[in-house]
Amino acid sequence: MDRMGNLRRSIYAGELRDSNIGETVTLMGWVARSRNLGALIFADIRDIKGIAQVVFDGEDKELFEKAGSLRAEYVVAIKGVVRERSSKNAELPTGDVEVLAYELKILDTANTPPIYIKDDDNVAEEMRLKYKYLDLRKPRLQKTLMTRSKIYNIVRNFYYENGFTEVETPILGKSTPEGARDYLVPSRVHPGEFYALPQSPQIYKQLLMIAGMDRYFQIAKCFRDEDLRANRQPEFTQIDVEMSFVDVEDVLGIHEKLITRLFKEILNKDIEVPFRRMKFDEAMDRYGVDKPDLRFGMELTDLTDIVKDVDFNVFKSAVEAGGVIKGICVSGGNDAISKKKQKKLEDFVKDYRAKGLINLRYDDEMTSSIDKFIDADIKKKIFEKFHAKKGDMVFIIADKYEVVSQALGALRNNLARELDLIDEDDYKILWIVDFPLFEYDEEENRYVAKHHPFTSPRDEDVDKMLTDPAHCYAKAYDLVINGEEMGGGSIRINNSEIQDKMFEAIGFTKEDAHKQFGFFIEALSYGTPPHGGIAFGVDRMIQMFTKTSNIRDVIAFPKTQSATDLMSSAPSAISDLQLKEVSLKVDIPSKKDE
Ligand code: AMO
Repeated sequence: MDRMGNLRRSIYAGELRDSNIGETVTLMGWVARSRNLGALIFADIRDIKGIAQVVFDGEDKELFEKAGSLRAEYVVAIKGVVRERSSKNAELPTGDVEVLAYELKILDTANTPPIYIKDDDNVAEEMRLKYKYLDLRKPRLQKTLMTRSKIYNIVRNFYYENGFTEVETPILGKSTPEGARDYLVPSRVHPGEFYALPQSPQIYKQLLMIAGMDRYFQIAKCFRDEDLRANRQPEFTQIDVEMSFVDVEDVLGIHEKLITRLFKEILNKDIEVPFRRMKFDEAMDRYGVDKPDLRFGMELTDLTDIVKDVDFNVFKSAVEAGGVIKGICVSGGNDAISKKKQKKLEDFVKDYRAKGLINLRYDDEMTSSIDKFIDADIKKKIFEKFHAKKGDMVFIIADKYEVVSQALGALRNNLARELDLIDEDDYKILWIVDFPLFEYDEEENRYVAKHHPFTSPRDEDVDKMLTDPAHCYAKAYDLVINGEEMGGGSIRINNSEIQDKMFEAIGFTKEDAHKQFGFFIEALSYGTPPHGGIAFGVDRMIQMFTKTSNIRDVIAFPKTQSATDLMSSAPSAISDLQLKEVSLKVDIPSKKDE
């Protein structure tokens, strides 16, 4: 039997407008709520497009009785006539009208849902994740999935128009060079051997350039077993791209067009091109981070010259150790930041390895937390350096360059949020360019590739790779929007001499390199075009476009911060038979079995 009887949906509930008044319509959806007022029963019907009000009057006794049995989340089909509402609801797009029902079919009943299905509820996130399919009934979450789908459509069209070919690369593969831990899959056919899930399609996309595919893109799932932070997921999506016969400006230029198109089509915002470019070193100097949020000022300012001769041990030892003394100035901070709050900020910077936080207040007088050591003249000079005025406050940290940058950079972001200095409708977009080619790994006591070992040095730095690695810069770039890293990429090495130098500089012997990337190094030797590319983090992009702070709210079925799926309970133990088939023995019982 046809479960829907003779009923077929004629319009979405959420699309009803006053232009539909007088029409006979059939809606299908979920009961968001129902209210029995005795003579009338109201039911709000929810579907993918929104919510509309349906009313049952008592004319048809049987129908009225059936309507009285409606409960939240029942699935229904309703036929009726659209009429103007007597009391309009300005908050709903459908709020001018309602449907007077004359037919009701209950397509399915529902148990009482364990979470309340409303955008502004504040149920514990564990419950929302456990019942994600119910959480997804909320319009706010449905919107994030629809924005994702729209982005994919725009992105695909854009790349097709520009001569790119979409190619799928393997999920079961060999370790890739992104530097996080791999997720591993045991092989049944080859006992003791494992596939690695891709951290990115990096190697494959470069192989496609060697293969002559010229321009590739893919909407690619990536897997990284790393410590999860608020904006990271173990399994996430990249828009991944590679292009042949290009240099930095070609990759940036075409992607400025893509990003402006996304802003126009999703937010109806016009974005100016070219985007601002800022060198990595400048970003670190002025903002303390390689992904500066330019929606507010409070730049890091070097005070070393002003205070280096002050007889204060913290300053002296920082200078002697080759460090710096820098500060930020908070406009109006003297009033906005209480003594108690000041103490909290001091604890905050200690999480970033700073030993302390010096402060100066500009009230009727200029005071500081180190008045024993600095005189009025120095205080005046410091405030002058910031062009400060009465009511402002300065925070200072003295330490190694990296510690000062990190701690003040984090403090700057933290203060902007707490003091409400950020205009949420503003979008500040920039490219960070000229990243260092190497970074020093204190644990391993050697230089490692900052991006990955296939990243090209700038032409002028090739000769310094072995003699002065600290001052070599890469043809690498990141796209930063409002303080978030939205994407990153580089021009790759396409010359075996430079590639060999790269491996040597990071302490890889020829054997090491061949063992890890042998097939790829061989591939590079058969005629590699100059090439480069980029990958964007789609999940973060959707967060930005939908103003969603939680990355789990833009992914249909996400994982928790500890990489579990609360709905399906993955990961989970497997049977002895399954273990045997893949030649594995597990010594540790799953915690879930205890
Ligand atoms: P990268 O490692 O910088 O580059 O990654 C590119 C972009 O992917 C996003 N991203 C993440 N998003 C969510 N969760 C994560 N765990 C996560 N990790 C990264 C970020 C980041 O900017 N193969 C290179 C690209 C290239 O060189 O072409 C790569 O993967 O937005």
